[in-house]
Amino acid sequence: MRAAVLTRYGDVDALELRDVEDPRPKDGEIKLRVVAAGLNALDLKILSGAVKAWFPQKLPSILGFEASGVVAELGAGVSGFTVGDRVFGQVRHSFAEEATAPATALARTPGDVPPIEAAAIPVVGLTGAQLIEEAVQPKPGARVLVTGALGSVGRVAVHVARQLRARVIAGVRGRRASEAAELGADEVLALDDPAAIERLAPVDAIADTVGGEVIGQLLPRLREGGVLGTVVAAPAGVKERIAVRSINAHADPRRLVELAEEVSRGAFALPITGHFPLTDVREAFRRARDGGKVLLTF
Ligand SMILES: NC(=O)c1ccc[n+]([C@@H]2O[C@H](COP(=O)([O-])OP(=O)(O)OC[C@H]3O[C@@H](n4cnc5c(N)ncnc54)[C@H](OP(=O)(O)O)[C@@H]3O)[C@@H](O)[C@H]2O)c1
Repeated sequence: MRAAVLTRYGDVDALELRDVEDPRPKDGEIKLRVVAAGLNALDLKILSGAVKAWFPQKLPSILGFEASGVVAELGAGVSGFTVGDRVFGQVRHSFAEEATAPATALARTPGDVPPIEAAAIPVVGLTGAQLIEEAVQPKPGARVLVTGALGSVGRVAVHVARQLRARVIAGVRGRRASEAAELGADEVLALDDPAAIERLAPVDAIADTVGGEVIGQLLPRLREGGVLGTVVAAPAGVKERIAVRSINAHADPRRLVELAEEVSRGAFALPITGHFPLTDVREAFRRARDGGKVLLTF
């Protein structure tokens, strides 16, 4: 089969199209024929070598953490799926014509969700939902600041926090404040405006998708006993006065289907800014740097 292979750390030139051996499903796994695969921030960080210390790759390796496709083969012990089913979910090494994944990481694609849309949802959808539902756990009326609210994970987090009837503050760059109004948040905060941060009434929780200096500047606005939920590196030395809960997205096929249905009926938007054939994988990675979901199609 053909795959986009990372040959070394560096720039997009390190990605090559190669013929590689077809994957074989182990016990409990499903092999799928990939129809679409989403790019994620982690793919870009792996490519650049930024995360090689804690996420080392055995090069050459196939990137990709999510896909939609069609079941091609069932590993031993898999039930509940049939060859030919349309599925989507968290799928490692998905930038290839075929990939395998644990059956527990996959769900049947709802009938009205096109494959490209389905492939955009698993990683950022589950991450944003788990950031709110498992880390922040807001009570109705709680003030929750979501950083990077116009990013893919942030959009899901804003949506899920609103579902739970939190009062949501969308944290974005000041130049994008008018765009953020579309998110339906109760307030918008310019994360690059120190005076606006100073004026912000204390919040009960921060759902952080940005990290770094930004979260450092925001922490004084988090009330004592509040919650910092994060999907990026948590700042050091803050655990005394607040609760810090980190999320590493985990499989949840039931929630994944709900999120896909919510996107499909317009409950929230996850903008897709480009989709490219596998042959244009380098261009896909270039486009992904500009934000929004970018997909490879097969
Ligand atoms: N823990 C996990 O399981 C998990 C899973 C998925 C993702 N993640 C991580 O979550 C993060 C977000 O992922 P994503 O897919 O949502 O990325 P994304 O779509 O690129 O969104 C990031 C958002 O943050 C904003 N941002 C970045 N730096 C900022 C700054 N200094 N000030 C204000 N806004 C800033 C970006 O705005 P601009 O576009 O204007 O820069 C963008 O809107 C990534 O670091 C990713 O690796 C973690």
